[in-house]
Amino acid sequence: MKDIDYEKIRGFVAEHNVLEPTSIHGPEHWKYVERNGLLLAKLNGADETVVRLFALFHDAMRFNDFYDEEHGPRGAELAKKMRGKLYEVSDNQFEMLYAACHCHTTHSRTGILTIDTCFDADRLDLPRAGYIPNPKKMATSHGTKIADLGLKNKVSLKDYRKWIDTIDLNSL
Ligand SMILES: [Fe+2]
Ligand SMILES: [Fe+2]
Repeated sequence: MKDIDYEKIRGFVAEHNVLEPTSIHGPEHWKYVERNGLLLAKLNGADETVVRLFALFHDAMRFNDFYDEEHGPRGAELAKKMRGKLYEVSDNQFEMLYAACHCHTTHSRTGILTIDTCFDADRLDLPRAGYIPNPKKMATSHGTKIADLGLKNKVSLKDYRKWIDTIDLNSL
């Protein structure tokens, strides 16, 4: 399997995204979902490739920043269309990527570690939209612990992204 050029995918997705570059569902969000996902994957062994691709595709096909129920399925379809053109993954990885993008707004958890890690990577970036992550709504045990810690430490919406970088992973 060839190495994946994530920057090329990022560029492609940014070009095809109809939202403003400063959108709360735009490139900055993708970057933090990737950061969160890789952090969780380090802790729980989730598939890093799937997590990184999810970060780039899951909100790629949002048509607005408000209510867009079908953006998950559209993101999944974009990932499908670009498989083999922009990136290569195994069938198993692709199935997880497709499901994670498709279901990220409709499913709380699936019981499949890598998919649930994608969900939590996205949920841990909710403070940008005005919500503190709720431990009860996280899909993985490490996601729950981070959300719990955020509540205990009373981390503000504004500080949440930076705070995640300061977490002592050994304490989780
Ligand atoms: Fe989304
Ligand atoms: Fe998202």
